[in-house]
Amino acid sequence: MRGLTLDGVGVITYRTDLPEPVVERSTDAVVAVRRAGLCGSDLHPYEGRERVRFGVIPGHEVVGEVVAVGHDVGDFMPGDRVLVPFTSSCGMCRPCRAGLSARCESGELFGFGDPDLLSAPVLPGGQADLVRVPLAGSTLVRLSDEISDEQAVLLADNFPTGWYAAERAGIVAGEPAAVIGLGSVGLCAVAAAMSMGATPVMAVDPLEDRRDRAERLGAQAMPPGDEETILPVGAVIEAAGTPAAQRLAVRLLRPGGTFSIISVPTADRLQITAVEAYDRNLTIRTGRAPVRSILDHLVGRVVAGEVAVPVEVVLTHPTVPLVHGAEMYRRCAAREPGVLKIAFVP
Ligand SMILES: NC(=O)c1ccc[n+]([C@@H]2O[C@H](COP(=O)([O-])OP(=O)(O)OC[C@H]3O[C@@H](n4cnc5c(N)ncnc54)[C@H](O)[C@@H]3O)[C@@H](O)[C@H]2O)c1
Ligand SMILES: [Zn+2]
Ligand SMILES: [Zn+2]
Repeated sequence: MRGLTLDGVGVITYRTDLPEPVVERSTDAVVAVRRAGLCGSDLHPYEGRERVRFGVIPGHEVVGEVVAVGHDVGDFMPGDRVLVPFTSSCGMCRPCRAGLSARCESGELFGFGDPDLLSAPVLPGGQADLVRVPLAGSTLVRLSDEISDEQAVLLADNFPTGWYAAERAGIVAGEPAAVIGLGSVGLCAVAAAMSMGATPVMAVDPLEDRRDRAERLGAQAMPPGDEETILPVGAVIEAAGTPAAQRLAVRLLRPGGTFSIISVPTADRLQITAVEAYDRNLTIRTGRAPVRSILDHLVGRVVAGEVAVPVEVVLTHPTVPLVHGAEMYRRCAAREPGVLKIAFVP
């Protein structure tokens, strides 16, 4: 099988000799990949900020077609067009029933693997021809023809993640909100905040190309350093993942405000003191987005035209051949102007 492997910091290898995944458990499906996104989360281990099991196939944003199912996967069959959220989930445990599919008691995360637990199995990701999906009946999302492959790539992670960050920021229609960090997740949070009625939505990033994209979505964009012009804000989303971005977010929050952190932590501590949180009665929210749970209500709203997935602004490279994997990782990590969100095609 063809696919990419992450073999060290900054080392992506295109391979044609990978073992084909098969149905291992009766609840598994195997999906032929049509698109596999490259996420900012894939860049953390690639750039050395997070430890993973080297040799892993990365990628956790998959759109594809079911090619095989175990005999307990009742709802899906070969030929079904599906989206694979970035974690598997059972749909029945307490976290799943509470809408927290990303914390399913038997859920697994695609494409990382713990380097400290070498004996534990690792769930290979989707930047390959095929991917095995555990708990397929409750993990996969069937795609109707109304949803394009491009929309589905963003629905597999970044759009519901941005949506979750905005929901958890306690956005109030008619009130301002701020988004710090305008990668794919931050831009999706801008789009979500706009559709929840925040006004204005202030968007901060040092990169001009990304600020321009936020303005196309209707935000008021500015570089870090200009934020003194921003009024104290009640809803602040941090989607950058740097200590400086968190400090900026904290400075912007008004008393009673909510600090919604959607970045994956790459440092031990949040950049907020107990006194800052206490003195302004702040609420802090963070965590992995429960994509599968969110899609239960979000997909219908997208199909109904109530919510727009910002494909044109965000998905700059929708069909990159896997063979260009190493080059595209490098260009994404360099945050090259015009290179924002990419999806591989096998
Ligand atoms: N919680 C979840 O479930 C979840 C899901 C997906 C991604 N993530 C995380 O979300 C974060 C964003 O992902 P992405 O794909 O958009 O990544 P990205 O790296 O493309 O975007 C980060 C952006 O932050 C900007 N930035 C850096 N320092 C800044 C500062 N001081 N002020 C303002 N902006 C600054 C960068 O210029 C960049 O545009 C990552 O940490 C990723 O791991 C979390
Ligand atoms: Zn991701
Ligand atoms: Zn569960």
